[in-house]
Amino acid sequence: MGVVEEIKARVNIVDLIGRYVVLKPAGKNYKARCPFHPDDTPSLMVSPEKGLWHCFGCGAGGDAIGFLMRIERLSFQEAVGKLAQELGIELRSGGEGRNRLFQVNLEALKFFQRELRGPQGEKAREYLLSRGLGENLWERWGLGYAPPAWDGLLRALSRFGVQALLDLGLVVMGEHGPYDRFRDRVIFPIRDEQGRVVAFAGRGFEGEPKYLNTPNTPLFTKGTVLYGLDLAKDAIRRRGRAVIVEGYTDVISLHAAGIEEAVASMGTSLTEDQARLLSRYTDEVVIAYDRDAAGEASALRGMFILHGVGLRVRVASLPPEEDPDSFVRKAGGRAVEEILAQAQPFQEFFLHALASRHDLSKMEGKEALLREAQSFWPEIKSSVLRLAIVQGFSQLLGLPPEEVQEALRGVTRPVPRAEEKVAEIRLTPEDLVVKFLLEGKVPAGLVPELLAEEHRFSAVYREVVRRWAERRAEGSSPDAASLISDLSPESASRVSRLLLLDLKVADETKALEEALIRFLYLPRLSERMEEVKLALKDAERRGDSEAVRRFTLEFQRLCRERFELLRRR
Ligand code: UTP
Ligand code: MN
Repeated sequence: MGVVEEIKARVNIVDLIGRYVVLKPAGKNYKARCPFHPDDTPSLMVSPEKGLWHCFGCGAGGDAIGFLMRIERLSFQEAVGKLAQELGIELRSGGEGRNRLFQVNLEALKFFQRELRGPQGEKAREYLLSRGLGENLWERWGLGYAPPAWDGLLRALSRFGVQALLDLGLVVMGEHGPYDRFRDRVIFPIRDEQGRVVAFAGRGFEGEPKYLNTPNTPLFTKGTVLYGLDLAKDAIRRRGRAVIVEGYTDVISLHAAGIEEAVASMGTSLTEDQARLLSRYTDEVVIAYDRDAAGEASALRGMFILHGVGLRVRVASLPPEEDPDSFVRKAGGRAVEEILAQAQPFQEFFLHALASRHDLSKMEGKEALLREAQSFWPEIKSSVLRLAIVQGFSQLLGLPPEEVQEALRGVTRPVPRAEEKVAEIRLTPEDLVVKFLLEGKVPAGLVPELLAEEHRFSAVYREVVRRWAERRAEGSSPDAASLISDLSPESASRVSRLLLLDLKVADETKALEEALIRFLYLPRLSERMEEVKLALKDAERRGDSEAVRRFTLEFQRLCRERFELLRRR
């Protein structure tokens, strides 16, 4: 067992939380007033059985480590260190502690680098070259290859002892002993701002998950590191701005094209820690995320977080269907520079992003837009910015500014009692699908299909689904409680909520099926129908009667399928 698992197995969450608040038993759980928001009803729930807590008032939640991090404002490793000490768990990975762990990671990196150049590395070398990641980049980015064997790294680094490898997440403990976490994957080392290797990501050649990442370890807290910052910080200072992208390959390709101020948030939604880290180097940031719905939603959220720490934020619009990596390789650095130069200021992007999602010729559309904007309103602290946004909406919607302002501020309803809150919670189909997945109730045959549709999940849940897929790839049946210490605070809070809610449904199989129909099958079908409709029109225009016949048949089949689904619902 690594330190983290051992802590989670031994810590008593009721004792821990009971040091800070008064806990009262409530069935098999405990209740308390939440210490994270003004709470006059006990909204905080603690489940000793599940090892989780959640506040149904403010939405915070997680496991024991997460509680300690939040209440004492500690980093993951600080919280782990504190709990380990209290529980008498030595950080056994060595006397010199962290320094030694850094050294082990460095040796692991050297092993992966050797393997990339070695006889087994051919497939990986070809893969990198085919993606435009030439040999000149391998050294700079520390690219490597993890061979397919189950004990390649384990043997090469045996002199450091298995415990250190477990603590660093390089090795996983299975039923038959320890084995390498990364197998047959291209390795991207993740370094902190000082260039020390804190974690690894492994890209598979096919199958799920696409990337396997090191879990949280004593050297690595998810959401506190920005990929590439060690190599980007000078350029960020020099050019007076940073560019934030989503992926590892985005960073590498942008740097190669001369945009060396690029860093990546690594797939989780950007955190406040990452924003603060950046603000030490610059006061201006350009967000350049993938141009899909998920990317736009992440950009919106990221924007508020960056703005919240005092950064000037602009959002770049890549052409649809492109990410920075694909675009820079197609169009070159100059084209990217131009797009970055045209990036929209914060409030403009906010207005346009919301406007494009609603039909503003109708009253309902205007109302829906204001409702959506309202959910972001508390995040906007600056009164200057608030005024600018009110004026923007006022112009856009043709409504007087006072009315807009009132709508955005919203009406504050009396806060319902905790019991009422729990009772009135309605889970969305997406909530249900994730809950069933985490509870191991999605039939194994359906899992790959669901993981392949990862893009349908909202950003907070996408992170959960990815981490879940990683655990599954390790061969263990993923258990939700161990997953949670590996999630960003926001995703952890959502998961604790899902897991603490007891579903009162008579037939779970049916509930899952219904949720899948609404979350996955129907949307997928509608998308295909739209495609076929367009293809049909096109075939008619071309006078291609064979294609017309084929698409008409497909369309009819899709209609029948849809009818069937709606009937089953
Ligand atoms: P993308 O799927 O856009 O990755 O996810 P990418 O970097 O463009 O991948 P390539 O180009 O196909 O290799 C963006 C980022 O999200 C994280 C990674 O940090 C990735 O770089 N991610 C993605 C994961 O952690 N796990 C996944 O399964 C997928
Ligand atoms: Mn990408």
